[in-house]
Amino acid sequence: SSTVTRDKGGELTVGGLEVSRLAEEFGTPAYFLDETDFRARCRAWADAFGRDADVFYAGKAFLSRAVVRWLHEEGLNLDVCSGTELATALDAGMPAERIAFHGNNKSEAEIRRAVEAGVGRIVLDSFQEIVRVAHIAQELGTVQKAFIRVTVGVEAHTHEFIATAHEDQKFGIALAGGQAAEAVRRALKLDGIELIGIHSHIGSQIFDMAGFEVSARRVVQLLAEVRDEHGVELPEIDLGGGLGIAYTSEDDPREPHEIAKALSEIVTRECDAAGLRAPRISVEPGRAIVGPTAFTLYEVGTIKPLEGLRTYVSVDGGMSDNIRTALYDAEYSVSLVSRTSDAEPMLVRVVGKHCESGDIVVRDAFLPADLAPGDLIAVPATGAYCRSMASNYNHALRPPVVAVRDGSARVIVRRETEEDLLRLDVG
Ligand code: LLP
Repeated sequence: SSTVTRDKGGELTVGGLEVSRLAEEFGTPAYFLDETDFRARCRAWADAFGRDADVFYAGKAFLSRAVVRWLHEEGLNLDVCSGTELATALDAGMPAERIAFHGNNKSEAEIRRAVEAGVGRIVLDSFQEIVRVAHIAQELGTVQKAFIRVTVGVEAHTHEFIATAHEDQKFGIALAGGQAAEAVRRALKLDGIELIGIHSHIGSQIFDMAGFEVSARRVVQLLAEVRDEHGVELPEIDLGGGLGIAYTSEDDPREPHEIAKALSEIVTRECDAAGLRAPRISVEPGRAIVGPTAFTLYEVGTIKPLEGLRTYVSVDGGMSDNIRTALYDAEYSVSLVSRTSDAEPMLVRVVGKHCESGDIVVRDAFLPADLAPGDLIAVPATGAYCRSMASNYNHALRPPVVAVRDGSARVIVRRETEEDLLRLDVG
């Protein structure tokens, strides 16, 4: 990870702070997030896309008040997908017009809250929602700017993408069978909505630009159809998030400027061919901004060598702070960070303390053979979809997020306490 370095004494440091001191002060398990790196990544995205495009950070990857303030200060916009994410964003001072509201099943209350707040865009996800949003906006005496989310028949995962003719999933409205064109037809007729664009999100942890290109091409084709049928040129397109990051040394992710270049070239080419004005482009990176900025620090507990197999190394957290390995077979790396060791590497599996054999944090890794209880190990690239998907399984108390910057560290999300947990238990 770009956030962690080894100083001359062999001690790991992050943001100029010794990891073992962080453990002493904040305890384990804990997520440590490099604020400087986070801000640099925001700027890299903003610079790559320039003034003719908008970058919306996908809050589902990790959201807190501090994160919202950083985004605001760095000039990014924010994508939220629940009323509570919206509340967090507004509470921390993100201007409503810079917020996009997503979701396949937004409640009436959530929609009302978003429209009342004046969010910049609502991404409409179904025929029912087109009507629902229009009615609520009309009731509130306003016109809501909206996108329609379409599914373009592309599924992308890491190194490959699959173009599929039909869609069998819950998001968006299919381009296939004229569904999306029908959705546009209906939206254009409704007074409560100003349809400003088409949205497409094709997947996550993607390295291959080809899927984004197919998606962009199909979205522009829909813009051309809309122009032909209605004489309206929708001014914007949103091509979603999904750019992958390096979890292990085998991953070779693309940079923001590479995706920016690929998208703007394909959109320009397709628009020229169709005689359309090039729309303003939005993107919604989550993982690529926050993922690499944080690592999880664990303390090693029980060590169990299994003859001829591997050594199981148990840590003081697990699937409650990182569900991704169990859920997606995600790969992570791990390193010993509290001391240096010249011992031979041994094959390990880093597991949690939960009552479940699938409770794996790092499936296959090497750690020094002299590893001992009390050692500290770090798992990098846990900034995205780890704290935000954390659970209280086995009544685990969710770990804190500590922001590190210029040699100082401060808690931005505090560690859950027994009291927090028991307060909800009102039986
Ligand atoms: N925009 C939309 C509409 C999305 O649904 C998502 C992610 C994003 C943007 C941000 O995607 P990103 O740039 O972070 O890949 N929990 C899974 C990932 C689920 C992503 C869901 N949608 C994981 O841990 O890999």
